[in-house]
Amino acid sequence: MLNNSFRFTPHITLEFKIEEKDFFIASESASRIKKTLQQLGIKQDIIKRTAIIIYEAAMNVAIHAIHGALKVYVDPEVISVVTEDVGPGIENVELAMKEGYSTAPQEIREMGFGAGMGLPNIKQCSDELVIDTKIGEGTTLKAKIYLNKNHE
Ligand SMILES: Nc1ncnc2c1ncn2[C@@H]1O[C@H](COP(=O)(O)OP(=O)(O)OP(=O)(O)O)[C@@H](O)[C@H]1O
Ligand SMILES: [Mg+2]
Repeated sequence: MLNNSFRFTPHITLEFKIEEKDFFIASESASRIKKTLQQLGIKQDIIKRTAIIIYEAAMNVAIHAIHGALKVYVDPEVISVVTEDVGPGIENVELAMKEGYSTAPQEIREMGFGAGMGLPNIKQCSDELVIDTKIGEGTTLKAKIYLNKNHE
Protein backbone atom coordinates (compact mmCIF):
# COMPACT_ATOMS: atom_id res chain seq x y z
CA MET A 1 0.00 0.00 0.00
CA LEU A 2 1.22 3.49 -0.79
CA ASN A 3 2.22 5.61 2.14
CA ASN A 4 0.36 8.95 2.14
CA SER A 5 3.35 11.21 2.75
CA PHE A 6 5.09 9.49 -0.14
CA ARG A 7 2.18 10.05 -2.45
CA PHE A 8 1.65 13.72 -1.65
CA THR A 9 5.12 15.11 -0.98
CA PRO A 10 7.28 14.31 -3.97
CA HIS A 11 11.04 14.51 -4.05
CA ILE A 12 11.93 17.69 -5.87
CA THR A 13 15.34 19.05 -6.84
CA LEU A 14 15.81 22.62 -8.02
CA GLU A 15 19.15 23.93 -9.25
CA PHE A 16 20.36 27.40 -10.13
CA LYS A 17 23.75 28.51 -11.38
CA ILE A 18 25.17 31.59 -9.70
CA GLU A 19 27.43 33.56 -12.01
CA GLU A 20 29.95 36.15 -10.92
CA LYS A 21 28.33 39.27 -9.38
CA ASP A 22 24.82 38.07 -10.27
CA PHE A 23 22.90 40.01 -7.62
CA PHE A 24 19.49 39.06 -9.04
CA ILE A 25 19.60 35.29 -8.90
CA ALA A 26 19.18 35.24 -5.10
CA SER A 27 15.76 36.91 -5.08
CA GLU A 28 14.73 35.17 -8.32
CA SER A 29 15.51 31.70 -7.00
CA ALA A 30 13.97 32.46 -3.59
CA SER A 31 10.68 33.50 -5.19
CA ARG A 32 10.67 30.54 -7.61
CA ILE A 33 11.12 28.12 -4.72
CA LYS A 34 8.52 29.94 -2.62
CA LYS A 35 5.95 29.30 -5.37
CA THR A 36 6.85 25.62 -5.60
CA LEU A 37 6.56 25.18 -1.83
CA GLN A 38 3.24 27.05 -1.76
CA GLN A 39 1.88 24.70 -4.45
CA LEU A 40 2.89 21.76 -2.28
CA GLY A 41 0.91 23.26 0.61
CA ILE A 42 3.93 23.62 2.87
CA LYS A 43 3.46 25.78 5.99
CA GLN A 44 4.03 29.51 5.59
CA ASP A 45 6.62 29.70 8.38
CA ILE A 46 8.72 26.99 6.72
CA ILE A 47 8.44 28.67 3.33
CA LYS A 48 9.57 31.97 4.84
CA ARG A 49 12.58 30.45 6.58
CA THR A 50 13.57 28.52 3.45
CA ALA A 51 13.35 31.66 1.30
CA ILE A 52 15.53 33.64 3.72
CA ILE A 53 18.19 30.92 3.73
CA ILE A 54 18.16 30.69 -0.06
CA TYR A 55 18.35 34.44 -0.51
CA GLU A 56 21.18 35.00 1.97
CA ALA A 57 23.23 31.97 0.90
CA ALA A 58 22.94 32.74 -2.82
CA MET A 59 23.73 36.40 -2.17
CA ASN A 60 26.89 35.39 -0.32
CA VAL A 61 28.05 33.37 -3.32
CA ALA A 62 27.34 36.28 -5.68
CA ILE A 63 29.05 38.83 -3.41
CA HIS A 64 31.93 36.99 -1.75
CA ALA A 65 32.75 34.10 -4.12
CA ILE A 66 33.47 33.90 -7.84
CA HIS A 67 30.68 31.63 -9.01
CA GLY A 68 28.75 28.64 -7.79
CA ALA A 69 25.45 26.83 -7.62
CA LEU A 70 22.36 26.67 -5.46
CA LYS A 71 20.54 23.38 -5.00
CA VAL A 72 17.31 22.88 -3.14
CA TYR A 73 16.02 19.40 -2.32
CA VAL A 74 12.46 18.99 -1.10
CA ASP A 75 11.81 15.64 0.53
CA PRO A 76 8.83 14.41 2.57
CA GLU A 77 10.58 15.19 5.87
CA VAL A 78 13.10 17.90 5.12
CA ILE A 79 14.08 20.75 2.81
CA SER A 80 17.82 20.99 2.15
CA VAL A 81 19.43 24.14 0.79
CA VAL A 82 22.97 23.76 -0.54
CA THR A 83 25.28 26.36 -2.03
CA GLU A 84 28.65 25.39 -3.45
CA ASP A 85 31.08 27.96 -4.68
CA VAL A 86 34.49 28.52 -6.14
CA GLY A 87 35.98 31.43 -4.26
CA PRO A 88 38.26 32.64 -1.50
CA GLY A 89 36.76 30.52 1.27
CA ILE A 90 36.04 31.80 4.79
CA GLU A 91 39.08 32.33 7.01
CA ASN A 92 37.28 32.12 10.34
CA VAL A 93 33.79 30.63 10.20
CA GLU A 94 33.06 31.34 13.87
CA LEU A 95 33.83 35.01 13.33
CA ALA A 96 31.85 35.09 10.05
CA MET A 97 28.81 33.78 11.95
CA LYS A 98 28.83 36.80 14.29
CA GLU A 99 26.22 39.53 13.77
CA GLY A 100 27.80 42.55 12.14
CA TYR A 101 30.97 40.86 10.88
CA SER A 102 31.51 41.55 7.19
CA THR A 103 34.40 41.79 4.77
CA ALA A 104 32.18 43.31 2.05
CA PRO A 105 34.02 46.06 0.18
CA GLN A 106 32.82 49.66 -0.02
CA GLU A 107 31.05 49.33 -3.39
CA ILE A 108 28.99 46.41 -2.04
CA ARG A 109 28.07 48.40 1.09
CA GLU A 110 26.94 51.25 -1.11
CA MET A 111 24.51 48.82 -2.76
CA GLY A 112 22.99 48.17 0.67
CA PHE A 113 24.64 44.83 1.46
CA GLY A 114 27.40 43.97 3.90
CA ALA A 115 25.60 44.40 7.23
CA GLY A 116 27.09 41.09 8.36
CA MET A 117 23.64 39.65 9.01
CA GLY A 118 23.36 36.96 6.30
CA LEU A 119 25.00 34.02 8.06
CA PRO A 120 23.44 34.77 11.50
CA ASN A 121 20.06 34.94 9.74
CA ILE A 122 20.68 31.62 7.97
CA LYS A 123 21.66 30.04 11.28
CA GLN A 124 18.50 31.32 12.94
CA CYS A 125 16.24 30.02 10.18
CA SER A 126 17.86 26.55 9.91
CA ASP A 127 17.32 23.43 11.99
CA GLU A 128 20.83 22.29 10.98
CA LEU A 129 23.66 24.23 9.36
CA VAL A 130 27.04 23.00 8.16
CA ILE A 131 29.67 25.14 6.46
CA ASP A 132 32.68 23.52 4.80
CA THR A 133 35.27 25.89 3.50
CA LYS A 134 38.79 25.78 2.13
CA ILE A 135 40.90 28.90 1.77
CA GLY A 136 41.62 29.71 -1.86
CA GLU A 137 39.18 27.03 -3.08
CA GLY A 138 35.63 27.69 -1.99
CA THR A 139 32.77 27.12 0.38
CA THR A 140 29.88 24.70 0.71
CA LEU A 141 26.92 25.60 2.90
CA LYS A 142 24.24 23.06 3.78
CA ALA A 143 21.11 24.02 5.66
CA LYS A 144 18.22 21.78 6.64
CA ILE A 145 14.67 22.75 7.52
CA TYR A 146 12.52 19.95 8.92
CA LEU A 147 8.91 19.91 7.82
CA ASN A 148 7.48 18.28 10.92
CA LYS A 149 9.54 19.71 13.72
CA ASN A 150 9.03 22.71 16.00
CA HIS A 151 11.62 25.34 15.27
CA GLU A 152 13.11 27.09 18.31
N1 LIG B 1 30.40 32.01 0.19
C1 LIG B 1 31.30 32.78 0.83
N2 LIG B 1 32.58 32.84 0.38
C2 LIG B 1 33.51 33.59 1.02
N3 LIG B 1 33.27 34.31 2.12
C3 LIG B 1 32.02 34.29 2.62
C4 LIG B 1 30.97 33.53 2.01
N4 LIG B 1 29.85 33.69 2.73
C5 LIG B 1 30.17 34.51 3.75
N5 LIG B 1 31.47 34.88 3.69
C6 LIG B 1 32.22 35.71 4.67
O1 LIG B 1 31.46 35.79 5.88
C7 LIG B 1 31.16 37.17 6.16
C8 LIG B 1 29.83 37.27 6.85
O2 LIG B 1 28.78 36.86 5.96
P1 LIG B 1 27.32 37.44 6.16
O3 LIG B 1 26.43 36.89 5.11
O4 LIG B 1 26.92 37.21 7.58
O5 LIG B 1 27.51 39.02 5.99
P2 LIG B 1 27.73 39.86 4.64
O6 LIG B 1 27.44 39.02 3.44
O7 LIG B 1 29.07 40.48 4.70
O8 LIG B 1 26.62 40.99 4.80
P3 LIG B 1 25.02 40.80 4.58
O9 LIG B 1 24.75 39.35 4.41
O10 LIG B 1 24.38 41.35 5.82
O11 LIG B 1 24.70 41.60 3.34
C9 LIG B 1 31.25 37.88 4.82
O12 LIG B 1 31.47 39.26 4.93
C10 LIG B 1 32.43 37.15 4.18
O13 LIG B 1 33.67 37.61 4.73
MG1 LIG C 1 25.70 37.91 3.32
